[in-house]
Amino acid sequence: MLEILVMVSGGGTNLQAIMDAIDAGTITNARIKGVLSSSRSAYALERARAGGIPADSLSRADYTDEQEYHQALLERIRQMDVELIVLAGYLGILPGELVRAFAHKIINIHPSLIPAFCGKGYYGLRVHEEALARGVKVTGATVHFVDEGTDTGPIIFQKAVAVGREDTPRTLQKRVMEEAEWVLLPKAIDGIANGKIRVAGNRVVVDAETEMEE
Ligand code: GRF
Repeated sequence: MLEILVMVSGGGTNLQAIMDAIDAGTITNARIKGVLSSSRSAYALERARAGGIPADSLSRADYTDEQEYHQALLERIRQMDVELIVLAGYLGILPGELVRAFAHKIINIHPSLIPAFCGKGYYGLRVHEEALARGVKVTGATVHFVDEGTDTGPIIFQKAVAVGREDTPRTLQKRVMEEAEWVLLPKAIDGIANGKIRVAGNRVVVDAETEMEE
C-alpha cells in the first residue's frame, strides 16, 4: 500500500480528484496518509477533513525565517513516514534537502504543457493568461517528478486541451483542470502505486498499458 502525503495551498480540487479516484477504485494500492497545507485557510483542508483524512497546515508566516520554516517542514514530513509526496496546487518552495531525500518520490501537477508557460512565477491563473496572450491553440497539463528546479523534473504524463476562441483565463483554467489535471494526477499515482512508472536517467518509463491513450 503506497502511503501518500498530499501538499496543498488552495481550493483542493486536485486533492478531491485523488480522494474520489481512491474511493472509485481507479487508484489502487494507495492511501492518503495526510494532507499538509501551506495556508491554514485553504479549502483543501476542509475537503480532507470531510474525507476523514488527517489535515494540518504549516505556514511560512509562522516562522521568523525561511531556514526555520524549512527545518519545521522537513521534520513534519519525516514524522509522517510516507512513500510519495503529491504537490496538488501547492505553491510553496520545497527545501532542497527534502527534494534530495525524496528523489523521484515527489510529483507535481502543472497546468500547462511543460516546457511551455512554466518556471518561476508561472502558477494559477497566470499560466492561462500567458497562454491566451501568446495565442496558443493547444495547452493542457503535465504531471512530473519534482527535482530541485522549478517545473523541470522528468515528465510522467501530459494531456492536451484545445484553446477555445471565446476562452478567458478562467474558462481555460477550469477546462484544463477538469479535462487534464484531474485525470493525470490520479493516473500517475495509480501507476506509481502499482509499479508501472519508473525513472531512467531524466526520462520516465511507463508500462505500455499505463501510457496515456492517444
Ligand atoms: C490551479 O491553478 C491548478 O491549475 C493548479 O493549482 C491550482 C489550484 O488547484 N494545479 P487546486 O484546486 O487547489 O487543486
